[in-house]
Amino acid sequence: MKFFRDNINEMQAYIPGEQPANLGQIAKLNTNENPYPPSPRALEVLRGYTDGNLRLYPDAMARDLQLAVGDVLGVPSDWVLPGDGSDDLIIMIARSCLAPGRRVVFPTPTFPYYKTQGQIAAAEIVEIPTSEAEDFRIPIDAVIAAAGDVTFLSSPNSPTGVAIDPDRLDYAAEKLDGLLVIDEAYADFADANALKLLEKRNNVIILRTLSKGYSLAGLRVGFGIANPQLLEGVLKTKSIYNVGAIPAAVGAAALRDQTYHDECVRKIIEQRGRMSQELSARSCKVWASQGNFLMVTVPDGNAKSICDGLKDRDVLVRYFNNPAMADKLRISVGSKCEVDKLLAGWDSLELK
Ligand SMILES: Cc1ncc(COP(=O)(O)O)c(C=O)c1O
Repeated sequence: MKFFRDNINEMQAYIPGEQPANLGQIAKLNTNENPYPPSPRALEVLRGYTDGNLRLYPDAMARDLQLAVGDVLGVPSDWVLPGDGSDDLIIMIARSCLAPGRRVVFPTPTFPYYKTQGQIAAAEIVEIPTSEAEDFRIPIDAVIAAAGDVTFLSSPNSPTGVAIDPDRLDYAAEKLDGLLVIDEAYADFADANALKLLEKRNNVIILRTLSKGYSLAGLRVGFGIANPQLLEGVLKTKSIYNVGAIPAAVGAAALRDQTYHDECVRKIIEQRGRMSQELSARSCKVWASQGNFLMVTVPDGNAKSICDGLKDRDVLVRYFNNPAMADKLRISVGSKCEVDKLLAGWDSLELK
C-alpha cells in the first residue's frame, strides 16, 4: 500500500505459532512454552495485586525486576534493561543500531525476528547458513568475517537446539567490532551460559526471557544485560513504560523463586531425554538440543503431513514452511502427560 515505506511493503510479516482459543485437551508443543504453571509465589503476587496503585505509572525501568535479576544472576542491577518480553529488546537494539547502510548478521535457521527487525530498519541483512552435515553448528569465523554492525547469536539456537560454547562466544566478541547480541532465551535448559563475558567484553548484550524457564510467556517479561554505557544507547529507543507494574512485580517474584524454577527445569530436561529416545526409536533423527524443544527429521521426510496428522489428534507441533526445514519439525518438550500424548498420537499415524 502507498502509505507504507517500500521496505515494509516488500517484507513478510513475522508469523507467530498457533495459539488456540481454547486449550481443552490439546498438548501444545509448538511455541516452546513451559508445560508447568508459573511459580506459586509469583501467582500469589499476581492475585494480591488489587491495590489502587494501578492508577499510577509504573517505574519506567521496572526497578523491582532489575533488583531481582541482579540478585539472582549476580550482576549489578543497573546492568539490567527490562523489556516487554525479550522481543522488545530485539526491537530496541534494532532501532538504536540498525539503519540503511548498516549490516545485521545472524546464522540460519534461527529465530526469524532478527530478520524481521533488520528488514524494518532497511538494514543490509547477511544470513550465515548452518548445515546438516556440520550438525547445524554455528560457523563462528564466517559470522565474524561478515562484520555486522549488529550480530545476533541465539544460544541455544532455535529451532536447532545447538548451543555455542562460551569460549567461542568470547572469541566472537573479541574479534567483532560491532555489537554482539547473545540471545539466551533458552539458557535455563542449557549446560552453560555467557554471563561471564560481560565482565570483559563491552560490545556484548545478553538477552533473557521469563517466557520459557519461568512459565510466564503470557505476562511478557524479558531483559537485556550489558554494561550501562551500552545500555544507555539502547534505552533511548525504549517505549516509555515498556514493562507494566504487574509484569514487573510478578516477574520479580518468579525470578526469586529459584527452587521452583530449578525443579521445573529438571523435569523438562528429563522429558527432553525421554522424548529424544522415544522419537529416535520411531526412526526419527533427533538433533541434540540444549533448549526446551527438539528438532526432529521425520522418517518419511514429509513433516507437514505429520504436523497436520498430529494436529488432528490434538497435538500441536511446529512446522516451518521453508525448503530447508521441509523434513523437520520442532517439538517443544512437554510434561510427562503431554509427551505420552505426543507418542500415542505419533503411533496412530499411518507413516509410510
Ligand atoms: C531465540 C528466541 N529469542 C527470543 C524469543 C522471544 O521471547 P519473548 O519475547 O517471549 O521473551 C524467542 C521466542 O520464542 C526465541 O525463540
